[in-house]
Amino acid sequence: MTFPKDFLWGGAVAANQCEGAYDEDGKGLSTQDVTPHGIAGPRTAEPAPDNMKLVGIDFYHRYKEDVKLFAEMGFKVFRTSIAWSRIFPQGDEDTPNEKGLRFYDDLFDECLKYGMEPLVTISHYETPLHLSRTYNGWVNRRMIDFYEKYVRTIFDRYGKKVKYWLTFNEINSVLHEPFLSGGIYTDKEKLSKNDLYQAVHHELVASALATKIAHEMMPEAKVGCMILSMPTYPLTPSPDDVIKVMESTHMNDFFGDVHVRGRYPGYMKRYFRENNIEIQFAPGDEEILKNTVDFVSFSYYMSICDTADPAKRKEGKGNLLGGVPNPYLDASQWGWQIDPKGLRYVLNYYYDRYQKPLFIVENGLGAVDELIRNADGEMTVEDGYRIDYLKQHLLQVEEAIEDGVEVMGYTSWGCIDLVSASTAELKKRYGYIYVDRYDDGTGTLERYRKKSFYWYRDVISTNGAVL
Ligand code: BG6
Repeated sequence: MTFPKDFLWGGAVAANQCEGAYDEDGKGLSTQDVTPHGIAGPRTAEPAPDNMKLVGIDFYHRYKEDVKLFAEMGFKVFRTSIAWSRIFPQGDEDTPNEKGLRFYDDLFDECLKYGMEPLVTISHYETPLHLSRTYNGWVNRRMIDFYEKYVRTIFDRYGKKVKYWLTFNEINSVLHEPFLSGGIYTDKEKLSKNDLYQAVHHELVASALATKIAHEMMPEAKVGCMILSMPTYPLTPSPDDVIKVMESTHMNDFFGDVHVRGRYPGYMKRYFRENNIEIQFAPGDEEILKNTVDFVSFSYYMSICDTADPAKRKEGKGNLLGGVPNPYLDASQWGWQIDPKGLRYVLNYYYDRYQKPLFIVENGLGAVDELIRNADGEMTVEDGYRIDYLKQHLLQVEEAIEDGVEVMGYTSWGCIDLVSASTAELKKRYGYIYVDRYDDGTGTLERYRKKSFYWYRDVISTNGAVL
């Protein structure tokens, strides 16, 4: 049996993509409430009616039904995020919003009732809008104080219910999407590299501080960083391409390296020197950074290529980081290239580099699904393509475990259909559970089990043996 017996099988979502109830029970606005078209589209001054995230899949009101369905699949773990602006509606007030706190108490209790561990992302692309507009998000050092107050509040409140914590979702994505990822209000094109990397520094310090506080307040807790992983292959065997890949990989490894080693790596110091970037360290920052994580978690959807040859550079589609398409791989309906072996590769890469337990906290296929009535009269989706995608990836996880990599668990992304992060549409579905809601705002919000629902249930109940 390859998968360890305590392997954490489950699924993942994020508050802003499923909860809806964007202004209920005292919740303040977040950056997601003013981006109706995802990362590509413009921001609106106020929440616009065509913003699918305002209602999401109404998880805020239907979580009991949904958690019950997760339990039916046998989830050992459920990854979700806390919407910061439910707890501190503006982000900079002194007292938290009790109704927001109560919602997550109830949600975590519901998970624990079924023996499901909550795995909580503290900040998943949902900075309180006030912090973004007033302070320019993580560019401002005061964000560390606001984040500290927020983490102390939720650790105090949920410390007995939640063991696994992630400090920032895909923390490296701030380099590519500063507003979405870091709440940085300045337009991406106008943002200086200095401000961008100063924001990164503040997030890294905040993450290490949260790890320190978690260990002090909850000795049993395990804290992880969360990296957007995208293995990059040289487009050709040219040494120039290999060096180019090494350099672009460093830009992402920087985040994991600081989280695991507790200090800035030499290649980054060189990059800062050569780009006239001067990071302001406050007294004590170096000490705080030494609070390293217990495990490394990451999302994995695809790999990319890179090349030093401008003539061969063409941008592919894909998850936030872009990249040059790989001629050997097929792509999803959204142009994300599918590479199961890349998952084995990246698991080995991180384990070789960090020697820390790894957690795959996102992986999955966004596809158009067709709801049909099957021969038994049940409404369902025959999503063999999703089963195939997940199976191929899990077989590579098995390979990595055989390679000696320590893998704690696997939470596939969007275990129930939800609103996509990059394009803010519901048509791009990841779930084992179909949600009857459409991008024109229609739909009953009813839930239906897809074929993959039963498949994943069997994977979990056999601890991967049916793969
Ligand atoms: C990751 C994010 O980048 O990819 C998720 O952490 C996101 O929030 C997921 O939903 C899939 O991306 P998309 O754009 O298909 O929703």
